[in-house]
Amino acid sequence: MTDRDIILSLGGIAKSFGEKPALVHVNLDVARGEVHVICGENGAGKSTLMNILAGIHQPSAGSLVLNGRTVTIADPIAASRLGIGMVHQHFTLVPSMTVAENIFLGRQPRRFAILSDGQAMVERAAELIARYNFRLDPEAPVRTLSVGQRQRVEILKALAFDAELLILDEPTAVLTPPEVDELIGVVDGLRSKGRTVLFITHKLREVKAVSDRVTVIRHGRSVSTHRTADVTEADIARDMVGRDVFLVGRKSGGMRVIGDAVLALDRVTMTNHAGRRLLDRVSFEVRAGEVFGIAGVDGNGQTELAEAVAGLMPVQAGTIRFGERDMTVASVPARQAAGLGYVPEDRLDRGLSVTMSVAENVAAANYGRAGLVRNGLVSQSRLATFADDKIREFDVRGAQPATPAGWLSGGNMQKLVIARELERQPSLLLICQPTRGLDIGASEFVYKRILDAADRGAGVLLISSELSEIFALSDRIGVMYSGRLMGVLDRADADEGRVGVLMNGGAEQAA
Ligand SMILES: Nc1ncnc2c1ncn2[C@@H]1O[C@H](COP(=O)(O)OP(=O)(O)OP(=O)(O)O)[C@@H](O)[C@H]1O
Ligand SMILES: [Mg+2]
Repeated sequence: MTDRDIILSLGGIAKSFGEKPALVHVNLDVARGEVHVICGENGAGKSTLMNILAGIHQPSAGSLVLNGRTVTIADPIAASRLGIGMVHQHFTLVPSMTVAENIFLGRQPRRFAILSDGQAMVERAAELIARYNFRLDPEAPVRTLSVGQRQRVEILKALAFDAELLILDEPTAVLTPPEVDELIGVVDGLRSKGRTVLFITHKLREVKAVSDRVTVIRHGRSVSTHRTADVTEADIARDMVGRDVFLVGRKSGGMRVIGDAVLALDRVTMTNHAGRRLLDRVSFEVRAGEVFGIAGVDGNGQTELAEAVAGLMPVQAGTIRFGERDMTVASVPARQAAGLGYVPEDRLDRGLSVTMSVAENVAAANYGRAGLVRNGLVSQSRLATFADDKIREFDVRGAQPATPAGWLSGGNMQKLVIARELERQPSLLLICQPTRGLDIGASEFVYKRILDAADRGAGVLLISSELSEIFALSDRIGVMYSGRLMGVLDRADADEGRVGVLMNGGAEQAA
């Protein structure tokens, strides 16, 4: 590669937060017009590196050369002037505002005269949408959009000022499998228009599908860069973790003892304001010692099912029992007291408090059980020891007990929620999209812990849009389509074909 082909060159980039090094030494050359994936474990420093490029953090050491010139990127505005746009791991859109307003939020160019401000903005947005073929309504309020559509708004927001270099930080972590395929198409389109894309993902399949080259970061250092075509998924995983990794699922004919139902739904029905059925007479049981997996294309009632079981949303008909107890109208705390552990799909919204410490987050709802209360007061030293244990057990990188949870990397926040819910030793574990945003080593660990929970006698209700995950972990598989449970298959009888037919509502006639 000649220097002209290199859009960005990083040399020896380091960054510490206080005493703590997040990046130690990163070298990276990004070629103009390539899609370059950055991989690494949770907490390896990927987001920190990207935030440096986006002007959010300043490096403690190292050099940044952009288009042949050494630059400092003082702030996000400087980054966008230099042609760098970033889509963050957690979305930044304002739901009540329209697509167009969000795209230009906070940076309406001067030339939109006061009078025609709104109209000019809508037109400019429509132009951008058409140029990238994104199929969005510029005047639609963002709150009415799906996650995949919101992400396209984020991308346009980053591209609006002619970004040459677009950074996507874990764009697929929030997407359903078909949305992932669409996004990969979008990225291919950007490349064909000469844009350069830095793309972060934990999914090795996506690395292979989207990138020209891949760089692995481990513990804050760049450890390898390869042409994607020259490496296998296993090679990349080994570079990331420093050892071979395998996602081991349920062994058929294992030792577990299946017991009584810990959860029983009988004709559970939930309707929205418009009277549409979100859940339509859903009946099934989850028994002690089994993993009951719910498969389905996202948006077919899985989220509502989880919220009904967790007590976050009322149901209009049917009953929900935990063991012998009717919990249909019980509060969330009452359900927790009755043995429910709940890992929601949206950790930031419902899973944890970003302003509270790691210790407070992991101990929440566990104070009594973990022996943290002395004479009616929380023992701070016990709390710290308890949190330390959980941090070590779950390998929550970059955390001290007193660290605000909001300082953790995305994947590490998730480990924290899972640690807390498993610590409760639930008799019923409801776990949604358990490995979204987790690196492959952490996914391996979470798989083991889910299976351990079942082996210990918990009933596990697993909701995931990753079919491979459902197959790897479940003893029985229920398939949802359009708010209905289309069928329940034993793992031994289930294959992708049969489940796929049910996922598309195919067995309706037979039902
Ligand atoms: N604002 C901050 N203050 C303190 N520490 C931080 C801050 N941002 C990141 N860190 C720490 O820097 C390290 C790297 O975090 P980073 O978010 O870059 O990881 P990541 O590779 O993006 O991980 P993930 O895959 O989980 O998103 C972590 O130990 C994290 O806790
Ligand atoms: Mg990150």
